[in-house]
Amino acid sequence: MLTRSKLPTIVSLLACPDDGADVVVIDDGVQCSRCRRIFKVYDNDIIEMMPSTMHTRSLYNDKYPAVVNRYWRSYTELFNEKYRRETTGAAWGAFESITHKNKMRKKKELLIINGLMGKTKGILCDVSAGAGLVTIPSCKRFDIVINCDISVNNLNYVYNKAKTEMIENIVFIRCDHLNLPIKKDSIAVAVAIDTLIYGREHDVRLLNEMRRIIGSGGFSIIDISNKYHKLPFIDRPCYRYTMSEIKRVIKECGYENFISKRFVQETDTLFRALIPATRFVMKMIKTASS
Ligand SMILES: C[S@@+](CC[C@H](N)C(=O)[O-])C[C@H]1O[C@@H](n2cnc3c(N)ncnc32)[C@H](O)[C@@H]1O
Ligand SMILES: [Zn+2]
Repeated sequence: MLTRSKLPTIVSLLACPDDGADVVVIDDGVQCSRCRRIFKVYDNDIIEMMPSTMHTRSLYNDKYPAVVNRYWRSYTELFNEKYRRETTGAAWGAFESITHKNKMRKKKELLIINGLMGKTKGILCDVSAGAGLVTIPSCKRFDIVINCDISVNNLNYVYNKAKTEMIENIVFIRCDHLNLPIKKDSIAVAVAIDTLIYGREHDVRLLNEMRRIIGSGGFSIIDISNKYHKLPFIDRPCYRYTMSEIKRVIKECGYENFISKRFVQETDTLFRALIPATRFVMKMIKTASS
């Protein structure tokens, strides 16, 4: 885990989620240099940096209203959770809580993600880490890994796992990824897996936040569901995009170049070449002009 002595390095990358000002280390946490708000640090490694107010939803006439409304309801609940150190069970997507079939799917997708990441150093930020399926293995490939989540349980779950595995270069930030408490141009790679699933407003806001925090030459890795994710025999309701919608969103969020990999999670057989991709796993590069 990161010890208190390494806290200043992390803190130099952080910004107050309310006004974007620098934060400084104080005795019992970190403090905004402008509004003086204090953010608690738990066990030297978990920094709670939630904004004072929730993101205000504006786009009501989105497609798939059931999926989108469900997200904004759960966002309100997660936002208002009080921080506590206890876990209430396995985090979302944790290997011990999913079926063998789902575990294999996740592993398959992780291989694609690792291939897109390549050899990278510097700082990785997973903006919605869940059970840490990307963050924990990434600790071997990056200098520092920032594990973000709004869910107290998910954050504590990965914290406990990292502690058991004696990982020394991971830090935890409880935050809202619609308003990330990280300075612009400050990290190498931002990741959001199984997260661009909550509707256009959420997804565009998140992609903009991810682009803001990565430096020029850095990149974001995401996955996004294809329109054809919900075939008659697949019942997994989530927000889905056509390829032209994806391209429009990516451009709107200021990324100029991207690499896209087809991912079919339903089958491993040759049959998969014949069915539409379930998702696209994408690497979006930030250029000096973007
Ligand atoms: C579907 S899970 C995916 C987790 C992980 N990336 C994976 O692939 O297993 C989505 C994650 O996003 C987190 N999340 C949702 N809204 C968030 C927000 N506004 N800010 C930060 N995290 C959020 C949830 O708590 C959850 O851990
Ligand atoms: Zn402030």
